[in-house]
Amino acid sequence: YPVKDLRGRRILVTSGPTREPLDPVRFLSNRSSGKMGHAIARLARWRGADVVLVTGPTALEPPFGVETVRVETGEQMRQACLDRAGEADAVVMAAAVADFRPRSPAPTKIKKDDLVAHSAPLLTVALEPTPDILQELARRRRPGQILVGFAAETGDLEALARRKLAAKGVDLIVANDVTRPGAGFESDTNAALLLGADGTRVDVPLVTKEALAERILEWVAARLGR
Ligand code: PMT
Repeated sequence: YPVKDLRGRRILVTSGPTREPLDPVRFLSNRSSGKMGHAIARLARWRGADVVLVTGPTALEPPFGVETVRVETGEQMRQACLDRAGEADAVVMAAAVADFRPRSPAPTKIKKDDLVAHSAPLLTVALEPTPDILQELARRRRPGQILVGFAAETGDLEALARRKLAAKGVDLIVANDVTRPGAGFESDTNAALLLGADGTRVDVPLVTKEALAERILEWVAARLGR
């Protein structure tokens, strides 16, 4: 790989979904395959960085030369990120962390018979919000550390991304319209709007997730070089 602009830099990347248990055999999750986050981790390594990848459950191989930490829940991802973020020059949060989790996971398998016994027509599950990892990393960030967040949107991409850029306190938001064919979850390609807190705006058309990863890492490398 010709470009080594991240040599000597330490990059923390998150990838994949989280799983939030309902009972010992069931969970709430989402469609994230890990392709986006794994591409960022792989390309960052190719560009010379020391990479730690914190990943939820995916079917992907861990990228070669990347220290990979496997987690399941958002809380485990939070802990792994907080443990590692202190040493990172940049953090890229591509993971699709569940925003809600069952408030009290059942200790034993939920049975249909229990509903019948209580003559209850519906199973109701109370959900509570999960901690926002990116916001917590932003609050604890050390001077000079670059924080990149993603925004998975289904509406007005630029308006929603601008709101997320401000709310999360990050340096860069990579906003993808996850309803667009060929973009977002599961596909090998993606399109994104990169919005920097410094006013930069880069529109990346539909390209491979590797190519989008390159654009994100170019942005990061340019900032770290200053
Ligand atoms: O994995 P793939 O199949 O390749 O799909 C890629 C992708 C669609 C998952 C990816 O491109 C993407 O958009 N990732 C972010 C998904 C997401 O959770 O977006 P969000 O808009 O809900 O969250 C905004 C940011 O906050 C994200 O950086 C997210 O990692 C972070 N977050 C969210 C919730 C939470 N509790 N803690 C967080 O840190």
